[in-house]
Amino acid sequence: MNPTIELLKGHRSIRQFQNRPIQTDLFQDLIKAGQAAASSNFFQAVTIIRVTDPKKRAKLASLANNQAYVETAAEFLVFCADMNRAASCCDLHGAEANTGFTEQFIIATVDAALVAQNIVVASESAGLGICYIGALRNNPSEVSTVLDLPHDTYPVFGLCLGWPDQNPEVKPRLPIDVVLRENSYGIEEDGLDLGNYDEAVRGYYATRSSNQKSMSWSEQMSGMLSKESRPHMLDFLKTKGFLQK
Ligand SMILES: Cc1cc2nc3c(=O)[nH]c(=O)nc-3n(C[C@H](O)[C@H](O)[C@H](O)COP(=O)(O)O)c2cc1C
Repeated sequence: MNPTIELLKGHRSIRQFQNRPIQTDLFQDLIKAGQAAASSNFFQAVTIIRVTDPKKRAKLASLANNQAYVETAAEFLVFCADMNRAASCCDLHGAEANTGFTEQFIIATVDAALVAQNIVVASESAGLGICYIGALRNNPSEVSTVLDLPHDTYPVFGLCLGWPDQNPEVKPRLPIDVVLRENSYGIEEDGLDLGNYDEAVRGYYATRSSNQKSMSWSEQMSGMLSKESRPHMLDFLKTKGFLQK
């Protein structure tokens, strides 16, 4: 069995952490492993903000729907998509930065996600647990103020890191033939066929060790997608200089 693939398949988010720090050497190594990710055009368009100030942690937790683990995790990192650094390179060379392209927004967002996921995999390989915090985007302007984020940057998500104090079950993923298609998308004439996945997810939710509920995956998605999804994001991103053209 390939241990890296086994590690990846064993991922589950951790939301309860021991009160125990991550050693400095290990922490530095995790960040370097993150930086080793591929990067579109070599922009390396991410800045990671390590939040160690307890007041800022508390503020960010409150801005992210009061999720306690933002405060209790050994480390809390905010991944910022960052075209500001590249714009400063133009200043260095007397060039005018041509920012604001939607493509640059995609580049920076993807770069941030790839670095984060490398850190996640490296962390889990060391026995740490993680939880992404997209809820920072509930209040992206306030988060940007707390972290002094400049123009051409935005907080994509946060990441809690720490030693796990729980052992949750692995959440079942969609059947491989639903997500992997050959040569074309292959729209089903008879509508979406999830096989027995809905029942697998219903079973997982009904029997997991915490926060049990009765819900299938398609019910969950249908509930989510019929609501608005952080409608403030477009205006926010425009104020930060993204999505102008
Ligand atoms: C970008 C991103 C943002 C997320 N935001 C949150 C969050 O704010 N709070 C939370 O508890 N989990 C959050 N999650 C975790 C997801 O709920 C979780 O990954 C998903 O339900 C699958 O479960 P698993 O990670 O245990 O396999 C986020 C995940 C991603 C990838």
